[in-house]
Amino acid sequence: MNNKDFLWWKHGVVYQIYPRSFLDTTGNGVGDLPGIIKKLDYVKSLGVHAIWINPFFQSPMADFGYDISDFQSVDPLFGSNTDMLTLISEAHKRGLKVIFDMVFNHTSSEHPWFVESRSSLDNPKRDWYIWNEKKPNNWQSLFGGSAWEKCDFTNQYYYHFFLSEQPDLNLRNPEVIAEIKKIIEYYLDIGVDGFRLDAVNTYFEDENLMDNPDTDYCPAEYTIDCQIRKYNFDHHHNYNFLAEIKKLIDSYPGERMLVGEVAKDGHDKDAWKKYYGDAQVGLDLVFNFDFLYNSPNVNQVTDIVKAWESLEMHNWPTYVFSSHDQIRGISRYVLEGDSIETEVKKAKTMAIFLLTVRGTPFIYYGQEITMNQYTDLTNDQIKDPWAIRTNFTVPTRDGCRTPMQWDGTKNAGFSTSEYTWLPISKNYPQKNVEVQNGDPNSILNFYRKVIQIRSENPALFGGKLELLEDNPDFVSYTRELDGQKVLIIINFCEHSIKPESECQTGNVLISEGLNNGEIEPFGFAVIEKN
Ligand code: GLC
Repeated sequence: MNNKDFLWWKHGVVYQIYPRSFLDTTGNGVGDLPGIIKKLDYVKSLGVHAIWINPFFQSPMADFGYDISDFQSVDPLFGSNTDMLTLISEAHKRGLKVIFDMVFNHTSSEHPWFVESRSSLDNPKRDWYIWNEKKPNNWQSLFGGSAWEKCDFTNQYYYHFFLSEQPDLNLRNPEVIAEIKKIIEYYLDIGVDGFRLDAVNTYFEDENLMDNPDTDYCPAEYTIDCQIRKYNFDHHHNYNFLAEIKKLIDSYPGERMLVGEVAKDGHDKDAWKKYYGDAQVGLDLVFNFDFLYNSPNVNQVTDIVKAWESLEMHNWPTYVFSSHDQIRGISRYVLEGDSIETEVKKAKTMAIFLLTVRGTPFIYYGQEITMNQYTDLTNDQIKDPWAIRTNFTVPTRDGCRTPMQWDGTKNAGFSTSEYTWLPISKNYPQKNVEVQNGDPNSILNFYRKVIQIRSENPALFGGKLELLEDNPDFVSYTRELDGQKVLIIINFCEHSIKPESECQTGNVLISEGLNNGEIEPFGFAVIEKN
């Protein structure tokens, strides 16, 4: 593969930044865009190729930025539009591509479009949202209760799949589509390289607003689980809408990219395929939830890889262990009683898998220093509206959003404030970037090394994948491209393994616990075979 064939979103590594928690430069306890700019050299030092930043646009913050009230303005909490432009150019100077997070399923209820829409039955923007005289069906909101909210101005109900502060846009209205296109063009014009599209499963709903069928099990405290989301999820219009957006971004020069949040469990190949679209007319990347919902145990690994490998070659996979919505991967993988050494070993097996399997890896800030899920939040410390509105039935997402641990100083170097928006993990004096920078054996330096190995070996970032032994204890596969073949074996179990695949000869690119053809617990080998 030539350098010119290196497609950043396909062969590179993406680093996700949750802006509230990266670095606070104003001393208000909340991270901001200048904070990200300040840390771009750090991000670059990881060897990654792109950053995805969660929404930082104007918002009342009912859902921490996923409730946008102005798509084209940076919320003052995070800085200014000038900061945004600086961020893009500073990232580009360092060769980093920039992915923004676009929320088109809904707006904030304080968005001027909704304020107009709700004001009267004959307002020209009335049809920009989904209104009904009465609650037309049994649809439930993901964030708790009915998905229909009465609005006093007109005594009608509007639809919201998420919070009532997040009314769903009516994407059947061509005026809404035209506005969305303008927003995308604005960001393409200022140099944004790609978009992470939020909640794409929920863009369109059944036109006849049919009742969703019941499930067998109905938890009183979380009513969305009482129904199958047959009529308000994965509607076939979602695919056409994405194809339109894709056409628009493809009309721009440079390699622009669309990755969609397709929330799906159970290795749902058919669903993924539809979102990619036939002949690549849809999303470039489908965000893979399989390792967000499941622990990385070996059976899962093999099944999940098999499912993704069964797609067409052009349906390029993604792999993700952690995000701003789910329990951090390492905390799902480590068992109670595991030592720090075992945690590090497990983190390394995760990193080796993530960075050698065929697909685009996404690394969530702090993953590279094994930041854990924060589990000690008391109910009055919890900020996540999903947990609060469901009376804590749904575990809070705050635990994976705590501030980045930069060093051993106050607030882990994240902020000078007395109060940070979420508490800092108690393990920060030991677990932080500064400490790990200085330790050649740290997980941070391990991530750097493996990303470098990946970037230097085309078979690893672009080659075809073949699964080898079907063994319940370990996973083994080869990656092959242009005559280069690399064997990867990862031991996910607590005892040594002796794989049949020959791992005693070849050029060992990286390994741990490899002795005479055996691999120790949570060891691995990455070996160039020719
Ligand atoms: C997506 C986001 C999540 C947000 C929701 C509503 O799932 O990842 O954080 O709460 O959409 O916008």
